[in-house]
Amino acid sequence: MSVKFSRIQKWKKIGIIALLLILPLCLFFLILHFKTDNKVIVDASNSRLNKKESLNSAYLVVLIMSNPTKSATRKTIRETWLSMSARNVKHFFVVGSKGLTAEVLQDVIAENKSHQDILILDSVAESYDSLTGKVLTAFQWLHSNFEFNFMLKCDDDSFVRIPPLVEELAKQPQNLLYWGFFKGGSSVFQKGKWKENGWFVCDTYLPYALGGGYILSSDLVTHLAISSDLLQLYKSEDVSVGLWLSPLKINRVHEVKFDTEFKSRGCYNQYLITHKQSANSMREKHSNLIQSGNLCSSEIRQRYSYNYNWTVPPSKCCKNFDPELP
Ligand SMILES: *[C@@H]1O[C@H](CO)[C@@H](O)[C@H](O)[C@H]1NC(C)=O
Ligand SMILES: *[C@@H]1O[C@H](CO)[C@@H](O)[C@H](O)[C@H]1NC(C)=O
Repeated sequence: MSVKFSRIQKWKKIGIIALLLILPLCLFFLILHFKTDNKVIVDASNSRLNKKESLNSAYLVVLIMSNPTKSATRKTIRETWLSMSARNVKHFFVVGSKGLTAEVLQDVIAENKSHQDILILDSVAESYDSLTGKVLTAFQWLHSNFEFNFMLKCDDDSFVRIPPLVEELAKQPQNLLYWGFFKGGSSVFQKGKWKENGWFVCDTYLPYALGGGYILSSDLVTHLAISSDLLQLYKSEDVSVGLWLSPLKINRVHEVKFDTEFKSRGCYNQYLITHKQSANSMREKHSNLIQSGNLCSSEIRQRYSYNYNWTVPPSKCCKNFDPELP
């Protein structure tokens, strides 16, 4: 009797121990199952709701194309136009780190530790040949890591006035927006560092917003990020973006307040972005803004501007130079 009783007790004990072992295991797998399930939903869907919980968020993300070795330029930008930012705006300097020497890489990582504002793309090498791939990789990163409304792509020689830019942005179409200073019918580069080898689409480039600064709404960044595997990359990054977006039914908005051509048109207080700025001119513009609220110590014209004419072919789009325009 007592032997039988203790045997039952022994089995009970074993049962309880087994249960205690199995239950947490089941629970663990159950949690794992739901977690992977959620992950699949997040990855498969572009819906903002699903993304929101796990991602960083910003109204505007500013991507500044830079180079690992240009820490002095980044310092100037942080001390000038980035010091006058706005709520809900985040910025990243985008650099490629493929093939960097250990020393340069260490410096960039250390700089990122102090400022937390460098997007280091390890699949990208820094060269003119890979600039388009760099921009597209940055779009992919943004798409996967950020919940955002708009993206500004600019260069590290662009001077951006973020607060008035954000104000103007609120007046633009909030979806399917491609906002910049557009050019159409320009000649395909046949020599030099921008020489295009594979361009067969047309005798000229297609209309595109100049690369010193343009804004895309997040739906367009998403479109480019998810179709990136199939996109043909051309040498010039801004030309490529114009081509990739060319078949789409979107809002192309020409902005004369973006002074984003290959050479600055001068200085106008209305400028929201002005390109080809040296460290000195950035510091000068910044101190002008602080002292007087105006960008320019005096307004100067170097070249005339135009309004893009969307009702005519690209070869005629950009000829109505207007001395009234900034
Ligand atoms: C750069 O800094 C950010 C913010 O701290 C961090 O999330 C990221 O991992 C850093 N990148 C590298 C390559 O260290
Ligand atoms: C665009 O070009 C057409 C044809 O030349 C002209 O009639 C029209 O006024 C132009 N529009 C603008 C905004 O310049």
